[in-house]
Amino acid sequence: MLLLVTSLLLCELPHPAFLLIPEKLDPRTVVPASSLNVRFDSRTMNLSWDCQENTTFSRCFLIDKKNRVVEPRLSNNECSCTFCEICLHEGVTFEVHVNTSQREFQQKLLYPNSERESTAAHNFSCFIYNVDFMNCTWARGSTALHDVQYFLYIQNSNRKREIRCPYYIQDSGTHVGCHLDNLSGLTSRNYFLVNGTSEIGIQFFDSLLDTKKIERFNPPGNVTVRCNTTHCLVRWKQPRTYQKLSYLDFQYQLDVHRKNTQPGTENLLINVSGDLENRYNFPSSEPRAKHSVKIRAADVRILNWSSWSEATEFGHLGGIHPRGRERLPRRGLGGEGNYLRPRGCRNGVDISASATLGNCFLADDAVSLYIIFHVFI
Ligand SMILES: *[C@@H]1O[C@H](CO)[C@@H](O)[C@H](O)[C@H]1NC(C)=O
Ligand SMILES: *[C@@H]1O[C@H](CO)[C@@H](O)[C@H](O)[C@H]1NC(C)=O
Ligand SMILES: *[C@@H]1O[C@H](CO)[C@@H](O)[C@H](O)[C@H]1NC(C)=O
Ligand SMILES: *[C@@H]1O[C@H](CO)[C@@H](O)[C@H](O)[C@H]1NC(C)=O
Ligand SMILES: *[C@@H]1O[C@H](CO)[C@@H](O)[C@H](O)[C@H]1NC(C)=O
Ligand SMILES: *[C@@H]1O[C@H](CO)[C@@H](O)[C@H](O)[C@H]1NC(C)=O
Ligand SMILES: *[C@@H]1O[C@H](CO)[C@@H](O)[C@H](O)[C@H]1NC(C)=O
Ligand SMILES: *[C@@H]1O[C@H](CO)[C@@H](O)[C@H](O)[C@H]1NC(C)=O
Ligand SMILES: *[C@@H]1O[C@H](CO)[C@@H](O)[C@H](O)[C@H]1NC(C)=O
Ligand SMILES: *[C@@H]1O[C@H](CO)[C@@H](O)[C@H](O)[C@H]1NC(C)=O
Ligand SMILES: *[C@@H]1O[C@H](CO)[C@@H](O)[C@H](O)[C@H]1NC(C)=O
Repeated sequence: MLLLVTSLLLCELPHPAFLLIPEKLDPRTVVPASSLNVRFDSRTMNLSWDCQENTTFSRCFLIDKKNRVVEPRLSNNECSCTFCEICLHEGVTFEVHVNTSQREFQQKLLYPNSERESTAAHNFSCFIYNVDFMNCTWARGSTALHDVQYFLYIQNSNRKREIRCPYYIQDSGTHVGCHLDNLSGLTSRNYFLVNGTSEIGIQFFDSLLDTKKIERFNPPGNVTVRCNTTHCLVRWKQPRTYQKLSYLDFQYQLDVHRKNTQPGTENLLINVSGDLENRYNFPSSEPRAKHSVKIRAADVRILNWSSWSEATEFGHLGGIHPRGRERLPRRGLGGEGNYLRPRGCRNGVDISASATLGNCFLADDAVSLYIIFHVFI
């Protein structure tokens, strides 16, 4: 009795379909276990096998821990396939099926990230800041020994270029972060790998991050205020960014603060959409108290706010003018139809833009993502 045998079966498999199941006796299934010699190069994400003469059909795919299947396109006469935009740290199983006019081959290859659990870098995140820089940080794996050392590698989306971390951030000698000052090698989506060495083996961690989602904006620049007797006009400059963005991609928030008032008194948060010329005009009649305005910026689609700009002061110095109090627009519609809101109602969105993890299967046109059920009779 001959079995259809998987070449490498190193750990418990997540799905019954992976169990070894005897095939019915069929001369076409008489195939030695390692006949396809399936191998995987994680650096190029290239799965390859020995080419077979007279191939009529071939198929390659991977199955992840959640039983999701990724299957690159493949033509009959190819004996390799490349996986794009996948993460491997949870472990995957590759599978290759080849039919020739004479026989049929099926082979699995486990890629398990098999070192000791929880030795990998964790809490990994990266952010781009101040236009030209990126910092990534991570924490030691909880079961990693003291001698552990981690290394970060970044590949662009087609895996053609690899950036090694140029400046590590260290914690008593262990690399726990990386600072990059040359982002020219990055593409819009990048593959990040943190592996490590130690007396014991260290699991690797990998992640795919989108530069669009990890940029922290600088605050808007060049904030100026000009007042006439009845109004004040605030203007500012769109912050410079790593991404190429249009003014329509920006959302701003102005914090107009009247100085020397009782605590708890009105502080205005004003939302303004990005415009070719960024400005906000509000009624404020003379005599007016001393005011300050701060502005912050966010990507309109993500709304992770930058830090506030330095406060720009305007108005009469030295507190409320004895002859009267100027009016700031009340809650409701402001000077140019902007909805105003007192400070206490601000939603608690914080500034940092660390990346979300685990979002590793990102479908593009080279990758189709679906679930299959194996039925072995
Ligand atoms: C993958 O590896 C095989 C065998 O080493 C090679 O023939 C093939 O060109 C590689 N494919 C890619 C896309 O690198
Ligand atoms: C491939 O097909 C040709 C023609 O049918 C045959 O002569 C040859 O033996 C086949 N090769 C293999 C390895 O089966
Ligand atoms: C390959 O062989 C298997 C097993 O005999 C069969 O179920 C499958 O239909 C074949 N595929 C093609 C495309 O011939
Ligand atoms: C790291 O992540 C874990 C959960 O994934 C969390 O409990 C822990 O607080 C995080 N540690 C740090 C330093 O962020
Ligand atoms: C990024 O890392 C560098 C190097 O440790 C550090 O000097 C810098 O302050 C960090 N930047 C931010 C915004 O955290
Ligand atoms: C930045 O990196 C690119 C390639 O990644 C390299 O060609 C270029 O010389 C680097 N620039 C600087 C200033 O180091
Ligand atoms: C980590 O990964 C890089 C890039 O693939 C490789 O060159 C290096 O040898 C690996 N280091 C360890 C310790 O696995
Ligand atoms: C700031 O704004 C002022 C007045 O609008 C202008 O003269 C100046 O060039 C601006 N500076 C920058 C850096 O844009
Ligand atoms: C002050 O500026 C506002 C808005 O720009 C304008 O409507 C108003 O007429 C100006 N007032 C005076 C006195 O110039
Ligand atoms: C301003 O925009 C933020 C983000 O969209 C929103 O949460 C908040 O409710 C808005 N505030 C006002 C006053 O419209
Ligand atoms: C926004 O920032 C928070 C806090 O740093 C982060 O958890 C979140 O992932 C960011 N959102 C996006 C879309 O980047």
